[in-house]
Amino acid sequence: MKTLLMGPPGAGKGTQAVILAEKLGIPHISTGDMFRKAVKEQTPLGVEAKRYMDSGQLVPDEVTIGIVRERLAEADCVNGFLLDGFPRTVFQAEALDDILTKLGTQLDVALNIDVDSEALIGRITGRRMCRNCGKPYHVTFSPSKVEGRCDVCGGELYQRDDDKEETVRKRLEVYNTQTLPLLDYYQAKGLVINVNGNQPMEKVTEDILAALKK
Ligand code: AP5
Ligand code: MG
Ligand code: ZN
Repeated sequence: MKTLLMGPPGAGKGTQAVILAEKLGIPHISTGDMFRKAVKEQTPLGVEAKRYMDSGQLVPDEVTIGIVRERLAEADCVNGFLLDGFPRTVFQAEALDDILTKLGTQLDVALNIDVDSEALIGRITGRRMCRNCGKPYHVTFSPSKVEGRCDVCGGELYQRDDDKEETVRKRLEVYNTQTLPLLDYYQAKGLVINVNGNQPMEKVTEDILAALKK
């Protein structure tokens, strides 16, 4: 199952990807998580990515495509993967097609998580992430059992640097201008499945699994 998870910032891509990766036994590949790891480790990639992330802009295509190309060539991707947050531009989508063709495969589905725009800011500003494993929580909608600690790995929960309201507004604007057009790209290939993300997390997972079975 070679799947994209699409949708605006705060739609629940990461939340669903963590659950689905476990249920389906395929890797969750999040470019945002990869960049955050590089930032934390202060690698050259991290130093470059941080400049863009902190202002809500996209990291340049060449950089992003390079890390995805390497990741998809790893052995655990052979039976499928869940791409979260990539592609985000039409250029990246074309590059992905090219990468997969060279690997002798292609995408099966692009899941688009639809959420009313008014809900997105509240989801993001209330988000807390595990510093260790990246699992997202929410202070109201999905609190951890022990305050400030990840249920899965015990890691410290923190607020992302780009989750301030001002940066979130910029990210939403970038999504609308640069990423939204991708839906037409995948619609034309007949790959898009729309999922109603304005529902409790468990229901969203159920709907995705039902859609994937078809
Ligand atoms: P990235 O990390 O991909 O962030 P994003 O796309 O802005 O998306 P988010 O992670 O904010 O949202 P999500 O959909 O994963 O929501 P989540 O599940 O956490 O990218 C960050 C930055 O990295 C970019 O701005 C860019 O600079 C760079 N970057 C990354 N990829 C790139 C690329 N391909 N090209 C160039 N640059 C790139 O949920 C949000 C909150 O809501 C959580 O608190 C969660 O608990 C809660 N929640 C989830 N589902 C529900 C529900 N059903 N009901 C109620 N609450 C819910
Ligand atoms: Mg995410
Ligand atoms: Zn954790």
